[in-house]
Amino acid sequence: MLKHNLRIYYPAWTPGLNQLESLTPNPSPMSSAEPWTVGRLLKWTTDYLKEQGADSPRLDAEVLLARALGCQRIELYTRFDEAPGDEARAAFRALVRRRADGAPVAYLVGRREFYSLSFRVTPDVLIPRPETELLVVAAIDLAKTYSPRPLGEGPGVRAEGAVASGQWSVISKPQGSNQKSEIRNQKSEIPLSFADVGTGSGCIAVSLAKHLPGCRVTAIDTSPAALAVAEENARHHELAERIEFVESDLFAALPPDRQFDFVASNPPYVAEGEWAGLPRDVRDFEPRGALVAGPRGTEVIERLIPQAAERLRGGGHLLMEIGPAIHDTVCSLLDADGRFEVGPTIKDLARLPRVVQAKKR
Ligand SMILES: C[S@@+](CC[C@H](N)C(=O)[O-])C[C@H]1O[C@@H](n2cnc3c(N)ncnc32)[C@H](O)[C@@H]1O
Repeated sequence: MLKHNLRIYYPAWTPGLNQLESLTPNPSPMSSAEPWTVGRLLKWTTDYLKEQGADSPRLDAEVLLARALGCQRIELYTRFDEAPGDEARAAFRALVRRRADGAPVAYLVGRREFYSLSFRVTPDVLIPRPETELLVVAAIDLAKTYSPRPLGEGPGVRAEGAVASGQWSVISKPQGSNQKSEIRNQKSEIPLSFADVGTGSGCIAVSLAKHLPGCRVTAIDTSPAALAVAEENARHHELAERIEFVESDLFAALPPDRQFDFVASNPPYVAEGEWAGLPRDVRDFEPRGALVAGPRGTEVIERLIPQAAERLRGGGHLLMEIGPAIHDTVCSLLDADGRFEVGPTIKDLARLPRVVQAKKR
């Protein structure tokens, strides 16, 4: 049941490092005369990682070998008979050893794909999970139902200081639009504004900015190290000028009158008592502060709901990723707040409740 409260995690592994030492030069039953080709390295490593209990041993082996060779994974298939040199094999062996010791592949290679975008990840940030893509899809779908809001309308206009800046207008220019429409848009429409609370790697903030060319995102985190990674990702995708990064406990550091159309959050939602039971891969490698909320698991969400109610414009949306075990509590908290209309919860591929939606009345 505990597993169901969490995102998809890697299995705990029992390392068998003695076997790994034989990766080169002479693992039986293969003949020592047989060269260590890409194909043979992949086969050996897949079997080895499988023995260790890896979920996706072939994929792990391919990603790590591509990393050691400095090539794309797909290229391995055209280099199957190539025998990598000693240096590349040594680098590969070191990566496989760390993987066998439980280190997630994303940390080993420093990247993870999320919503078809590549993100830098370090041990300072949670590795983006596929379930979180559900939140991004829901936010983008909802955002597309918004009609452009003329400048001067709505309570949050004056709070959006950057709206009319030149910098903003360049970035918000729709693809294919000409200079004239850009200027008109700059003067006549307010961009949709998102807060991504607990941005971590920035995967939600960057995906939203990428897929909603007119929007503006405020990415918030308590961790300066996480914010540095998020900012790097925003720069990598050339979106840094539409995303602001704020070190803050929820909304505390933002000006009191700052308002948003959307609040999106994948907050910590693991209860303290669950921590020891998490798979070793998670417990030993991912940041505790990104996962654990407090004794109940709902502590961050309990504070986020009333703050989101203060920060959302009327009709604005709050989207939160949650664990199934706290789903009913979270819906009750939203009801009890009295300022939200609770929408249908989005289920993940395992049919478990995963993203709670609420609309500010
Ligand atoms: C579950 S991770 C989510 C990271 C990223 N958004 C994702 O979906 O992969 C939660 C993040 O919230 C941050 N965080 C924890 N408590 C916070 C708080 N009170 N205010 C702002 N951020 C917080 C953590 O540092 C962590 O980066």
